[in-house]
Amino acid sequence: MTERDTHRVIPLQDQRRQSFALPAVAGGWLPAANPQVTDQRGRALRDLRISVTDRCNFRCNYCMPKEIFDAQYAYLPHSALLSFEEITRVARQFVALGVQKIRLTGGEPLLRKNLEQLVEQLASLRTPDGLPLDLTLTTNGSLLARKARALKTAGLQRVTVSLDGLDDAVFRRMNDVDFPVSEVLAGIEAAAAAGLGPIKINMVVKRGTNEHQVLPMARHFRGSGMVLRLIEYMDVGATNGWRLTDVLPSGDVVKLINAELPLLPLEPSSPGETAGRWGYADAGGQHDKVAGEIGVISSVTQAFCGGCNRARLSTEGQLYLCLFAQQGYDLRSLIRAATPDADLASTISQIWQARDDRYSELRSALGPDTGAGVTRVEMSYIGG
Ligand code: GTP
Ligand code: 5AD
Ligand code: SF4
Ligand code: SF4
Repeated sequence: MTERDTHRVIPLQDQRRQSFALPAVAGGWLPAANPQVTDQRGRALRDLRISVTDRCNFRCNYCMPKEIFDAQYAYLPHSALLSFEEITRVARQFVALGVQKIRLTGGEPLLRKNLEQLVEQLASLRTPDGLPLDLTLTTNGSLLARKARALKTAGLQRVTVSLDGLDDAVFRRMNDVDFPVSEVLAGIEAAAAAGLGPIKINMVVKRGTNEHQVLPMARHFRGSGMVLRLIEYMDVGATNGWRLTDVLPSGDVVKLINAELPLLPLEPSSPGETAGRWGYADAGGQHDKVAGEIGVISSVTQAFCGGCNRARLSTEGQLYLCLFAQQGYDLRSLIRAATPDADLASTISQIWQARDDRYSELRSALGPDTGAGVTRVEMSYIGG
């Protein structure tokens, strides 16, 4: 058996096909009577991440390594994907239960045809208090120059762009499809010009691969009005061959930047936030608001499960309660069985109330090998 043949074995353990049993529906329950559901750890449901496609035009090694996501990889057929109407209907139930922020993810969400139509439908949703949602999207930026204006017109509020370095050779190597950094930078400019801010730039830092890009990235985005966020490389999914030695702890990243561009810690802007905030200091040691801030996302060295208010809806309508979950709950079967809205909301509410997930905290407590031999879902399917 060659190495390539070995990879073919992986779909036999495909976690996409497995799901937990759905709770029985308690008839007649109305979300308006109990809009603030909390889980077993008292965490509210605030943030819904919706994956609109499991495909991507990049092959970042930490997410969709080329050897596995090759021409033979079995992506979901179009019929398996939730339609825009199905997504909007299920999102409406989440909003009734307390969700205030919706993030569209993938794969690469801008590969989904006519995505602006979905944005328009989601932008019309209102919270029980009548407020619009914080509606955002994570993209690799490759199609942003073409699509930024239409997304803004459709009602998208802001974007987060993944960018792992400024050096063209490093960037081409990391996306592994030889995509030039200049086009992503043009996409970021187009998003800023279209008013899709405040823009966040997500950089996954891998020791020995792009740590030398941390300072150039900090210098580039300091004073730009955009927030650079440095992310610890995580053991998400089952295909990226994650090793603890590849992780550059956020503490080291902060030290590295602080040595040249002094930083000071800032208060979190909302509870349950993923990123620790650091502001650039002025000569008097105060926060220089023009220079702005950075964020560090430390899910390996400093788990943030305690405030985790995030639910994830996979490309085919499975509800996942944790980025590291092995199985989800098949909401698509309910939607396609013409389940009434109140029953759909009741089911989601029951699932959330039983939630006890805190993978990163347990990994920190039990050591980095907690997930060894486990086949978790891929981030490209569940959404970052
Ligand atoms: P903002 O609302 O713009 O602040 O976004 P966010 O930080 O909530 O979301 P984003 O998708 O930008 O998250 C940044 C990165 O943090 C992701 O790409 C993941 O690597 C990581 N991340 C996001 N959510 C979780 C989570 O619930 N658990 C863990 N362990 N990591 C997460
Ligand atoms: N570790 C950390 N972040 C990851 N992402 C994808 N895979 C990983 C990983 N293994 C993040 C990237 C991208 C988003 C879609 O998910 O930063 O911004
Ligand atoms: Fe695509 Fe983003 Fe995954 Fe890279 S990290 S392969 S751009 S989904
Ligand atoms: Fe939430 Fe799971 Fe991430 Fe912890 S590891 S913050 S529970 S998604």
